[in-house]
Amino acid sequence: MKKYALILAAGKGTRMRTDLPKVAFPILKKAMIEYIVENIEKSSIDEIVAIVGHKKEVVQELLGSRVSYAVQEEQLGTGHAVLSAAPVLEDKVGTTFILPGDMPLMEYPLMDKLIRAHEEMGNDLTVVTMMMDYPKGYGRIVRDEYGIVTGIVEENDCNETQKLIKEVNSSVYIVNNKLLFEYVRKIQKNPRKGEYYLTDIVALMHQDHKVNTFIVRNPMVTMGINDLYGISIAEKYLRDSINKGHMLSGVSMINPETITIGHNVVIEEGVWIYPNTTITGNTVIKKGAIIGPNSEVVDSIIHEHAEIRHSIVLKSEVGAYTTVGPFAHLREHAVIGEHNRIGNFVEVKKSTTGEGTKAAHLIYLGDATIGKNVNFGCGSVTVNYDGVKKHQTVIGDDVFVGCNVNLIAPIKVNDNVFIAAGSTVTEDIPKGAFAIARNKQINKEDYSKNYIEPKSEKAKL
Ligand code: UD1
Ligand code: CA
Repeated sequence: MKKYALILAAGKGTRMRTDLPKVAFPILKKAMIEYIVENIEKSSIDEIVAIVGHKKEVVQELLGSRVSYAVQEEQLGTGHAVLSAAPVLEDKVGTTFILPGDMPLMEYPLMDKLIRAHEEMGNDLTVVTMMMDYPKGYGRIVRDEYGIVTGIVEENDCNETQKLIKEVNSSVYIVNNKLLFEYVRKIQKNPRKGEYYLTDIVALMHQDHKVNTFIVRNPMVTMGINDLYGISIAEKYLRDSINKGHMLSGVSMINPETITIGHNVVIEEGVWIYPNTTITGNTVIKKGAIIGPNSEVVDSIIHEHAEIRHSIVLKSEVGAYTTVGPFAHLREHAVIGEHNRIGNFVEVKKSTTGEGTKAAHLIYLGDATIGKNVNFGCGSVTVNYDGVKKHQTVIGDDVFVGCNVNLIAPIKVNDNVFIAAGSTVTEDIPKGAFAIARNKQINKEDYSKNYIEPKSEKAKL
C-alpha cells in the first residue's frame, strides 16, 4: 500500500505576529516546514502533498518541487484544509499521514513507527496523542467508560471536566485515504469559530470504523508551535539534542547551552567548540579544529586543526592548521590555504590564498588571487573598487607587502616581489623586483618650531 504525507501549511499563523507565514519561520536558521519535509523524505512515505494558502509563494519557494501542492484559497480550518487536497489525493489508494506544518521536531523513525503501529493494529484512523501536564491550547482526547476514544474537543469548546484531561491531540493522524475524504466531507462548521475542524473526524468515524490512539512518549516532539515563545522552546530543545549528538560523537563543547549548531552541520571528532558560537547551514568542521569563543560560521568548510576565534566565517573555506581571528571576517568566497594566519581586523572577500600566507592585522583582501608565503604588512589593502566596478588583484608566491600598501586593481604582483611600506602601487610588478611608490622624505633642519611648541623644554624652565 502506498503511503502519502499531507502537510497542513495554509494557515495564517496569526498568533506568531510576524510577516513570515508560520511554517516558513526559521528555527536554527532553517524553516520549520523544511524539517518536516526532510524527515518525511527519509521515512517510508512515498509521496508528499503540502496544503498551502496564506502567502503560498513563500512556502512554495522554500520547498520547490520536493512536494506537490494543493491550494486552500480561504483558511476555513484544518478539516477544510484536508478537503482542499481532494483534487490531488482523493483518488489514491493507500494510507495518509497527516501532519501540521507547525510541528517540526518529529523525526522519521517515529513517523515510521507510527505507520507500522497503525497497520499492525489494523486501524482505519490512528490519532497520535501525548500527555501534557499543561495541556492549554491543545484539543483534548475524550474517551468513553471503556477507554475508547470518541472524540476530540478543542480547548475553547471544553467544559470544566474536559479541560482537566491531560491527553491531547498532536494533530498527527494516520488514516485510510479513501475513508479520510469520505468523512472529511461530513465535517460540519464549528458553530463557535465558523471553521471546519479536522478533529471532528474522530467522532464521525469511531462508530463505524476502527479508531485508535497512539500515545507518544516524548511530548516535545509533537509540540505544536503557535507563537514566538513556542519557537524559543523548540529551538532550545533542538539545540540541546543536536549538541548532545555531537558531544556523544567526540566533539567537546564548553558551555553548550550557549552553542548553536544547525541541523545540517557536520562536525568530526576531536573538534573543540567554545562558548557563544553559532555554526549553521551546510558547514563541515574537520578533525581537531577549534571554533570560538564568540564566532559565527555559516555554509563553510573548516579543515583539520584550523582555529577560528572571535570571528565570522561566511560561505568560505579555511585550510588546515590556519588560524583566523581574533576579530576577522571572511565575508564570502574566501578560500584560505593551509598554515595561514588571518589576524585581527582582517576582512577577506572572494579571494584565495596559497599555503603559509599571513595577513595578521588591519588588512582588506578582496577579489584577489594570492600565492604561497605572502606576507601582508599591517594596513595593506587590495583596492578593488573604483566606484563602478570591482577589479582583480593577482599576487604570486613569496611576496612581501609592506605596511600600508595600496594595491590598485587590476594589478599583478609577480613572485618574489618586495613592496616598500606606504607604497600605492598602480602598475604590475615583475618577478623579483623591489617596488617603492611613495614620496621621498625631506628633513628640514630645525624647522618643527614653526608648527609645535617644544612643551617638554618649557616645562623644564
Ligand atoms: C490543532 C488542533 C488541535 C491540536 C493542535 C496540535 C484542530 C481544529 N485543532 O490546533 O486539536 O491539539 O493542532 O498542535 O485541528 N491550517 C491550514 N488551514 C487552515 C487552518 C490551519 O492549513 O484553515 C494549518 C496551519 O498552517 C497549521 C496546522 O494547520 O500548520 C494547525 O493549525 P493551527 O491553527 O495551528 O491549529 P491549533 O489551534 O494549534
Ligand atoms: Ca498549532
